[in-house]
Amino acid sequence: MEAAGKEEISVEDEAVDKDSFRDCSKIAFYRRQKQQLSKNSTYRALLDSVTIGRESTTFQIINEATKHPLLAEVYGIERNIIRLKINEETPLKPRYEVSDVLVGKLSTVRLISCSGDTESLILSDGKGDLKCHITANPFKIDLVSEKEVIMSINSLGQLYFEHLQIPEKQRTTKENEKSTSIDTSQEDQEDLGLWEEKFGNFLDVKANGPASIGLDFSLHGFEHVYGIPQHAESHQLKNTRDGDAYRLYNLDVYGYQIHDKMGIYGSVPYLLAHKLDRTIGIFWLNASETLVEINTEPAAEYTLTQVGPAAAKQKVRSRTDVHWISESGIIDVFLLTGPTPSDIFKQYSCLTGTQVMPPLFSLGYHQCRWNYEDEQDVRAVDAGFDDHDIPYDVMWLDIEHTEGKRYFTWDKKRFPNPKRMQELLRSKKRKLVVISDPHIKVDPDYSVYTKAKEQGFFVRTCEGGDFEGVCWPGLSSYLDFTNPKVREWYSGLFAFPAYQGSTDILFIWNDMNEPSVFRGPEQTMQKNAIHHGNWEHRELHNIYGYYQQMATAEGLIQRSKGKERPFVLSRSFFAGSQKYGAVWTGDNTAEWSYLKISIPMLLTLSITGISFCGADVGGFIGNPEAELLVRWYQAGAYQPFFRGHASMNTKRREPWLFGKEYTQLIREAIRERYTLLPYLYSLFYQAHVASEPVMRPLWIEFPNEVETFGIEDEYMLGSALLVHPVTEPKATMVDVFLPGSNEIWYDPKTSACWEGGCTMKIPVALDTVPVFQRGGSVVPIKTTVGKSTGWMADAPYRLRVALSTKGSAVGELYLDDGHSFRYLHQRQFLHRKLSFCSSVLTNSCADKSGHFPSKCVVEQILVLGLRKEPSSVATHSSDGKAQPVAFVYCAGTSTLSLEKLSLNVDTDWEVRIQ
Ligand code: GLC
Repeated sequence: MEAAGKEEISVEDEAVDKDSFRDCSKIAFYRRQKQQLSKNSTYRALLDSVTIGRESTTFQIINEATKHPLLAEVYGIERNIIRLKINEETPLKPRYEVSDVLVGKLSTVRLISCSGDTESLILSDGKGDLKCHITANPFKIDLVSEKEVIMSINSLGQLYFEHLQIPEKQRTTKENEKSTSIDTSQEDQEDLGLWEEKFGNFLDVKANGPASIGLDFSLHGFEHVYGIPQHAESHQLKNTRDGDAYRLYNLDVYGYQIHDKMGIYGSVPYLLAHKLDRTIGIFWLNASETLVEINTEPAAEYTLTQVGPAAAKQKVRSRTDVHWISESGIIDVFLLTGPTPSDIFKQYSCLTGTQVMPPLFSLGYHQCRWNYEDEQDVRAVDAGFDDHDIPYDVMWLDIEHTEGKRYFTWDKKRFPNPKRMQELLRSKKRKLVVISDPHIKVDPDYSVYTKAKEQGFFVRTCEGGDFEGVCWPGLSSYLDFTNPKVREWYSGLFAFPAYQGSTDILFIWNDMNEPSVFRGPEQTMQKNAIHHGNWEHRELHNIYGYYQQMATAEGLIQRSKGKERPFVLSRSFFAGSQKYGAVWTGDNTAEWSYLKISIPMLLTLSITGISFCGADVGGFIGNPEAELLVRWYQAGAYQPFFRGHASMNTKRREPWLFGKEYTQLIREAIRERYTLLPYLYSLFYQAHVASEPVMRPLWIEFPNEVETFGIEDEYMLGSALLVHPVTEPKATMVDVFLPGSNEIWYDPKTSACWEGGCTMKIPVALDTVPVFQRGGSVVPIKTTVGKSTGWMADAPYRLRVALSTKGSAVGELYLDDGHSFRYLHQRQFLHRKLSFCSSVLTNSCADKSGHFPSKCVVEQILVLGLRKEPSSVATHSSDGKAQPVAFVYCAGTSTLSLEKLSLNVDTDWEVRIQ
């Protein structure tokens, strides 16, 4: 949001001014493609030009009308991925290709041609599981997996490629005749926005002219599609037939409207589709402004006119057509063929990386506000948590902590001794996060500015000077994070000697990195600003924030000499941002509808690789009533990134300010989060090593149950917990769908259980958080809670064993030092498998390559769903020693509870029930 209006913000004037943002009708490249595609110009593949190389197969495609040639490259990538690249054969100058997103060099699989002539070509991976059928005229590719056509490319003829042209003024008459790839004879040039485009008072002058691209994908048999964050929209993507396309364009939209397809802070151009027996994905690697149209045709049965006894009806499979349109760059698309959700996650992460392993403290609760005023305020809030017995891990300082919004400095009056303040937090085993935005105040006395200026590290204008725009500090220049040298230099600013007043408990928050430019077009940077390598901002807009988070994370690693894990929260993101830290959903509002939409927003981020995500608890804008605040804490406690945050001009809302009853409810919610940390940390480890999202839509866990495909008011945390946050005011009852006809679900608080496959009416009071543990799971939790995660390292565990209908359960526990890279480089970690089978609970090693001595013990075990009262219970150590243990069995609830145990987590043992 804008600085100028900061003082005047009130709840009344928070509606988004839609006129300051463009809808599809105001986007010239979209209008152009719509117009031109209706003219039906087709492409033909010249299959006699095929070259089958070691890495890829290439052939020409030609536009029948303009005769412009394109070059297509098809790659087989390990794990059943196909990559298709299409570029101009001989572009006037190179077109932008996204680098630094794909991890390492992808292992290619050689595709062989199984049959082919000038009309068609079949490429197959060695195994023959995956085939590309290429049809020459009109050009089309069918992707066949295990004999099923799962996807067709360009079957709707929406391949579109604007060839770079010599600017009109520089053209000779001859060039003029052949240059245009667009039929402009009838059209008003200005309306097509070829070389110039107006929006409000802004004029975008395009040095390269029109350069947009587009392609269609028909997904056969698919009706459910997901992904392409970030939008404040439902989890399942909607048809765009009658309205705007989904827009991917990173923008700072204060108080964004919900159920809207406009672009907000981040973009992941990755879409997933799911049907009963298959999940697939399309990753469109392009960082320019992108629009995605979606059209789903449900399955249909037609009665044929020629009536015959058997052929009277024809079934047509459902289909979803996805049309990607980008303003510039090349077509570089990855087709992920699944077939299971878990395969899809692995395929996507082998392209873009997995979720970085967060330091344990960052899974605790974060207390933020714009702003904690001064050191005294920080001390008082910090003490407030202790006084009210509420754990928290991280205090946050927003922009006002700096000297006039000059990042890497401290306001000397408010924070005269930042190290002293950090030492106070350290003594409580807590951390500090401070903000560092990408805009740098134009000020000849500010060394970050002068040094960056000297070295030419700012984004430039098309005239060649440093770009200057207004943001929090007033006139600012913007670091060009796309330049590796700038990133290296910026990383160095986090070194302790360089960043005066910083210590190793200080971590970073990157905000406004869409980038936000007040009074710029759509509140961002002009598209014709110039980056490193002379690329226009237009080419890479969506990846700008990604690069800042990358440089920040690297800086934090470097300042620790490679030893410590960083924590960096970023508002803007792109595909692959998971490698660098966490993201949040920006400036939401303290209304019930925003609490509700946070669930699908986080689910969408989670399935597109970004597990570490959260929404501002309480709602950033406006003042939540106590009930909403409580419900938000209860929801946030079961979401990956858990931070309370509030805008300036909102009333203070620390957890104890709403009266005893509410303090108690918030305390409960936060404490519950802390008991759950062993489970959550283990889930993050799985996200890190095995690409499994932490927060999951139900369809991921129940891919064969159609009822789950559209659910977004509840979700799974890992595979064991189903959470249905209450998102309605004054709720007394919620409808909870418990999936799985063979499943059994337990309320861990009451031990009540239900069979799956139906919707239950669950009564709720203000202290009820509907959470259910799935039968067949073991959830490790802590028995006691400390002031922060640092106080809980040695706290004992409780294992919550929820038996399946077959009387078994399985789970795992991961632990390490919680902060360093020793888990990676020295394999200092503990990964245990906890399984219950034939009345024996076993703790065994899940990964023998890891070692981490731990003093921790399992102190309590709760077995839910044990039908028969045991006659005895005994623990057995690996050296054969048996020891009887006291137990309490409750026949009414079928629960067995063992207490006062002392079973080391890091050794093998069994608990036998007889
Ligand atoms: C933006 C951020 C918000 C932050 C504010 C001031 O609006 O989204 O979280 O508090 O800027 O830095």
